[in-house]
Amino acid sequence: RIAGPSSLVLFGVTGDLARKKLMPAIYDLANRGLLPPSFGLVGFGRRDWSNEEFVEQVKDSVTQHARTPFNETVWEQLSAGIRFVRGEFDDDDAFKNLRECIEELDQSRGTRGNHAFYLSIPPNAFEAVCQKLSEHGLAQPDDGQWRRVVIEKPFGHDLESARELNSIVEEVFPPDAVFRIDHYLGKETVQNILALRFANQLFEPLWNANYVDHVQITMAEDIGIGSRAGYYDGVGAARDVIQNHLLQLLALTAMEEPISFDADHLRSEKEKVLAAVSLPADLTGRSARGQYEAGWQGGERVNGFLEEEGIPADSTTESFAALRLDINTRRWAGVPFYLRAGKRLGRRVTEIAVVFKRAPNLLFRDHNEEDFGQNAVVIRVQPDEGVTIRFGSKVPGTQTEVRDVTMDFGYGHSFTESSPEAYERLILDVLLGEPPLFPRQQEVELSWQILDPFEKHWESLDGQPDPYVPGSWGPASADELLAADGRTWRRP
Ligand code: BG6
Repeated sequence: RIAGPSSLVLFGVTGDLARKKLMPAIYDLANRGLLPPSFGLVGFGRRDWSNEEFVEQVKDSVTQHARTPFNETVWEQLSAGIRFVRGEFDDDDAFKNLRECIEELDQSRGTRGNHAFYLSIPPNAFEAVCQKLSEHGLAQPDDGQWRRVVIEKPFGHDLESARELNSIVEEVFPPDAVFRIDHYLGKETVQNILALRFANQLFEPLWNANYVDHVQITMAEDIGIGSRAGYYDGVGAARDVIQNHLLQLLALTAMEEPISFDADHLRSEKEKVLAAVSLPADLTGRSARGQYEAGWQGGERVNGFLEEEGIPADSTTESFAALRLDINTRRWAGVPFYLRAGKRLGRRVTEIAVVFKRAPNLLFRDHNEEDFGQNAVVIRVQPDEGVTIRFGSKVPGTQTEVRDVTMDFGYGHSFTESSPEAYERLILDVLLGEPPLFPRQQEVELSWQILDPFEKHWESLDGQPDPYVPGSWGPASADELLAADGRTWRRP
């Protein structure tokens, strides 16, 4: 579906996200023919840029980061609708100019009063921007028009701040005009979890505590925190990606089949799973936290977390976190879900491994425990997108040895269609007003209810996270977390 006449107003144009993801995604959408000719892009920021200078900035980011090839005709059409408004987030004159700017776009481009405000800015600036949008009549559409606001995770720092943040936004925009972005939900492979489970008969009968031993969800990155110390310190791996991306993956993996893929049905099923996560009163032995040390990775000397620019030498923020969660439902009782995420790990990989119990009676006794594990279905979210099924097979020869083998589905082999970038899909859905891929406030709050007790537990320990070597799979305490249950992490 093609978006209707509309504009996207981008707050935070100089940030990494805007340059590397948002502006290229808008161009890619235009290039794929998914934006209408009557589309406008407005940048709002402090830089002293003219429209022309901003157009150049957008072009730079498009030529560097867009997925699709540069097409002069598409660019000319798109860039004719690009504007820049200079100002601070609390500056009345700037918002007056913004209002004039979008009214001008309504006239010259035909955007028809339909505008989405994308807040790619620190959450502490949300209040000022929402208030100014409201005071200047920008948040209130006339009949037949729409106004929407897009906010990026992290939605708050804990349950309380998430509620505060939400009340700030929803004081100005009604709940169905608020689009919360968790970009993992825009990934093709994440959407495929639902197809794999509910469009097939093969997996779902086994997808429960009768057959599944445990589930491992891994989000590993080989990069460090780079230049993001200002954001990352005091946040850490758990708040940065477990509270949102990993808990969303857990919800999609564990939820019941929704009656339909309508936003309300889908979100309700995810919420039920999150609400069913039960934590023991004492969280000792349920988690691990780590910080990367200095060392070598990919042939390069890399800083330790505590030496990264902008990180205080005594920071207790974790760059790795692992949790064990249990879901109290008939389907999942007794099946632990292990989640781990970290920076400077062995390689960049995100996967969900559903690990099955062993066959009840093993006639083929001749096997090496390391080579013959449990059956598994592994959803490879990235970078090598696909699904792997792991099972035992007889080793050719006269003996009765069995060994694990894998059967792979890879997107690259099976499809000629290319996957859109997560942000393309999500920006298009904002413009179309399609909410299923955007978590609602209830999901955000339930996720904080799961994470807050861990954060409190870690605070009570008052100590330094456990060190780990760059390029490894985290601290020894992460291995101990599974070893205590007689299990081991997969090496993706
Ligand atoms: C972001 C986190 O949400 O996701 C980053 O804030 C992380 O710390 C990024 O690097 C990873 O996204 P992706 O799509 O590369 O897995």
